Amino acid sequence: MSYVPAPDRYSKIPYRRCGNSGLVLPAISLGLWQNFGHVDLRSTYEKILYTAFDLGITHFDLANNYGPPPGSAESNFGDILQKGFGAYRDEMIISTKAGFTMWEGPYGDWGSKKYLVASLNQSLKRMQLDYVDIFYHHRPDPNTPLEETMTTLDLMVRQGKALYVGISNYPAALAQKAIDMLKQMGTPCLIHQPKYSMFVRTPEEGLLDVLGKNQVGCIAFSPLAQGLLTDKYLKGIPEQSRASRHPSLNPSQITPKMIGVIGKLNELAKARGQKLAEMAVAWLLRDERVTSVLIGASKEQHVLDAYNALNNTQFTGAELEEIDRILAEMN
Ligand SMILES: NC(=O)c1ccc[n+]([C@@H]2O[C@H](COP(=O)([O-])OP(=O)(O)OC[C@H]3O[C@@H](n4cnc5c(N)ncnc54)[C@H](OP(=O)(O)O)[C@@H]3O)[C@@H](O)[C@H]2O)c1
Repeated sequence: MSYVPAPDRYSKIPYRRCGNSGLVLPAISLGLWQNFGHVDLRSTYEKILYTAFDLGITHFDLANNYGPPPGSAESNFGDILQKGFGAYRDEMIISTKAGFTMWEGPYGDWGSKKYLVASLNQSLKRMQLDYVDIFYHHRPDPNTPLEETMTTLDLMVRQGKALYVGISNYPAALAQKAIDMLKQMGTPCLIHQPKYSMFVRTPEEGLLDVLGKNQVGCIAFSPLAQGLLTDKYLKGIPEQSRASRHPSLNPSQITPKMIGVIGKLNELAKARGQKLAEMAVAWLLRDERVTSVLIGASKEQHVLDAYNALNNTQFTGAELEEIDRILAEMN
């Protein structure tokens, strides 16, 4: 597919400064966790990437293990870059991560220097890149000293293999320690990537305060709770949906009580003139500490829905209270 980007792509989406760094990120970023693997249809995911880029979505988020099979999202993305999209490399922020199981044996997981260095080298090869813009430690490792993991992130930047570093899934107190260590080394922590949505509000229990206080960026992943915060499951579990295809969303989670809550949120979104997916993205962006909302998409329309959230990111106090009241029904 020969691709020419939309000439007006930089007048479409707001960019937010990532903490106190020099980097800005689009309010919406695109993640390649699912739907970009060898099991997926290239024409579909290529269209998703181009649709995003045409809207000014410059940030693409990957990890060593994205696929399936693990690694295939990076190699598919690398191939698309090679076939023309890479002409716009300097307009893109490409991130990858390591921290979950990637290869067999004791050196293919967690947070040792051995694992992280080898993994970033592999990621660069798969994506056919000289460097990534952001490298993340993907999850805390209870057995590796934090100093070892953080010095490795610092090393990657000094080697020029990553421009910036970040952490993901770190709880507030550990994030503060990591931020302090990186600062001392002269490689500031650019960004934290937590799971955050109307259904998962853990970052509100201290993490957002830590990030705000230290002026570190925040990119919220699974903002739609993997598709639950849309109208998709209101009438059952469609074939080809994540709940029917992927173990990360267990259909047993989708209880009648949850459907009741989603239905009420859907009505509230309609009253705001939005789809529920749009309202879920807008709800995250109302907090200025959230630099970007990191969506997933199995079709082009999903990117457009997230983008349309930007038409209305204001909430009245009464709407926010109503959302909290509806969400409390889950307990
Ligand atoms: N750091 C970490 O540990 C971590 C973990 C998870 C994810 N992430 C990052 O976050 C990114 C996003 O995660 P996610 O895919 O879970 O995000 P999400 O936006 O919560 O869920 C995306 C899924 O929801 C469905 N969907 C999206 N828009 C829709 C719409 N408008 N209407 C109906 N359904 C819609 C699609 O699933 P269907 O397949 O059902 O169509 C889509 O694949 C990942 O790609 C990855 O980059 C990071």
